[in-house]
Amino acid sequence: MNEITSEEATQSQQNTLRTLVLGTGGQLGRELYRVFKGFGSVIGADRSIVDLTQPEQLRAYVRRVQPDVILNAAAYTAVDRAETEKQLARAVNAEAPRILAEEARSRNALLVHYSTDYVFDGTKREPWVETDPAKPLNAYAASKLAGEQAIQNAGGEFLIFRTSWLYGPFGHNFLLTMLRMARERDKLSIVDDQVGAPTTTLGLARATQMIVGGVLSGRFGDAQDWAGLYHMSCGGETSWFGFADAIFALAASHLGIKRPQLIRIATKDYPTPAARPRNSVLSNDKLGDRFGLQLCSWESGLDEVIEILGNEAAQ
Ligand SMILES: NC(=O)c1ccc[n+]([C@@H]2O[C@H](COP(=O)([O-])OP(=O)(O)OC[C@H]3O[C@@H](n4cnc5c(N)ncnc54)[C@H](OP(=O)(O)O)[C@@H]3O)[C@@H](O)[C@H]2O)c1
Repeated sequence: MNEITSEEATQSQQNTLRTLVLGTGGQLGRELYRVFKGFGSVIGADRSIVDLTQPEQLRAYVRRVQPDVILNAAAYTAVDRAETEKQLARAVNAEAPRILAEEARSRNALLVHYSTDYVFDGTKREPWVETDPAKPLNAYAASKLAGEQAIQNAGGEFLIFRTSWLYGPFGHNFLLTMLRMARERDKLSIVDDQVGAPTTTLGLARATQMIVGGVLSGRFGDAQDWAGLYHMSCGGETSWFGFADAIFALAASHLGIKRPQLIRIATKDYPTPAARPRNSVLSNDKLGDRFGLQLCSWESGLDEVIEILGNEAAQ
C-alpha cells in the first residue's frame, strides 16, 4: 500500500485536522485508516512510505506531514522471532515511539499508541489493572513496555491503549490461521491453559475514533484529565482452545468450513521460543470510568468478524 489521503471533512472543527495513521499495512492500521476516513484529512503510511527503524526518516516524515493526531499502529509483532531480533524489536517498538512522542510534543499533536497484554507475567488470577507491575516474559513484550515508558517520559498529549489477542478479517492473526489450518488438517491441538480476551481490530479502531473525537472536542476535559495509559480489550475471557472452538462453531455454519477435531493441550506440550503469560485478561474499568465506553464481548466481536468474512466469501 502506498500513501493514501482522504480529504472528506465532516464537521467544521475537523476540516483542518490532519491525522497520520502509521502501520496501514497491518491489521489494526488498516482498520484505523478505514474508520478515521472522513475525520478531516487522513494520511496513511506503511513501511514503503516510512521505515520506523530509520529515526531521521521518521522525524522528517512527521515534520513534512504536520499531523495534529498520530495513530501509531506500526509495530514489530513477531513474538517468537523477537527473541533473536531483540534490537530490531526495540528499534520499532521502543525507539520509534520515543521519536513520535517527541515530535508530537513539539507540535502539540495527540499521539495514540498501542501496547500489549503481554507486558504482564500472567501470574495474577484476576484481570490486570493499569497499576499492576509489568514484568514481561519475552523480548517482544519488553520492547513494547520500553515503548510505553518512552512515550510517558517524553510527556506531551498521549493515549496508550494496551490490548490483547488482536484479530480481524485481514492480516496475520489466530482466527485466519485457524481457518487456514482447518482446510489443511482434520485434527488441531490447541493450548488450553493460557487465558485472555480476543479483541477485534474493528472494536479497537471504533473506540479509538470515539475517544479521539471526544478528546479533540474537549468533552473529556484537559489533557491532564485524559492523557495516559488504558487497557482496551473485548469483554469476557477464554483460552486459545475456547477461542478456536467458538471460531469453528461459527465457521461451520457461516463459512462452510469443516470443523476439525480439536485437542486440548498444555503450554508445556507446545514449546515456543518466547514464553507467554498464563492469564493476560485486562480490566477495562479505567477506560469505562474515564471515557464511558466499553468494547463488546469477545463472542460478539467474533460474530462480527465471521459475518464480514462470510460476506466477502459470498461476493
Ligand atoms: N496482534 C496481537 O495479537 C496484538 C496483541 C496485543 C497488542 N498488539 C499491538 O497492537 C498493535 C497493532 O498490532 P497488529 O496486530 O495490527 O500488528 P501487525 O498486523 O503486525 O501490523 C504491524 C505493522 O507494522 C509494520 N512495521 C513493522 N516494522 C516496521 C518498520 N520498521 N517500519 C514501518 N512499519 C513497520 C508492519 O509492516 P509490514 O506489514 O511491512 O511487516 C505491519 O504492517 C501493535 O502495537 C501491537 O503490538 C497486538
